[in-house]
Amino acid sequence: MNVKNQIILALDVEEKNKAYEILDQTTEYLDTIKIGYPITLALGPSIITSIKEEYDVKIIADFKVADIDATNEKIVKTTLNYGADAIIVHGFTGEDSVLACKNMAEKLDKEIFLLTEMSHPGADKFLKPVSLDIAQMGVDLGIKNYVAPATKIDRLKKIREVVGKDSFIISPGVGFQGGNAKDTLQYSNAAIVGRSIYNASNPKKALEEIIESIKV
Ligand code: XMP
Repeated sequence: MNVKNQIILALDVEEKNKAYEILDQTTEYLDTIKIGYPITLALGPSIITSIKEEYDVKIIADFKVADIDATNEKIVKTTLNYGADAIIVHGFTGEDSVLACKNMAEKLDKEIFLLTEMSHPGADKFLKPVSLDIAQMGVDLGIKNYVAPATKIDRLKKIREVVGKDSFIISPGVGFQGGNAKDTLQYSNAAIVGRSIYNASNPKKALEEIIESIKV
């Protein structure tokens, strides 16, 4: 996946007008939008289709799929059929669950991102001890796309070492959670930014400043 300006907007707003206002202000610089539960549960999954129809963007559905294989397959199929280009899948559920997602995405000519370790402090207790194993499982399964934290650069670096230079990593946690875009992009292919853009008094300016900060 190619991500314009190496920034993905996490569009975690819950009102359609607000979502479109933010997209109007930012899609000059962005071509990849992360849609999660907040907007999907508030507006329904057809919001994915609507955004795809009105903006020239790729959509990554952050549904952190984490069920048994048969259920995962259905979640992935329905989400991607709404128009998402890729879906984020948890890795801790194991090989059969992850493979069901990968196979369904490939059947639809779309992609999955495998979530290795999360960006929030609480993830240190249960996910951190196994995140490199999750990343290695992804490599063994032939997965090319990963999610790894911008807030823990040492962990991001280690995950990059496991998945290799040709894998594509996207990283949440830049801005509000304390991560820095430039540092993150040393090891990651794209930074995910939510609140620092959509809660800014001027989202376009906030995005421009993040893009500038990568260049200096
Ligand atoms: P903020 O507002 O903190 O938004 O810039 C971050 C976005 O990323 C999501 N998030 C994650 N997604 N793995 C994921 O797949 C993670 O470790 C992770 N941490 C944060 C968060 O839900 C929000 O949409």
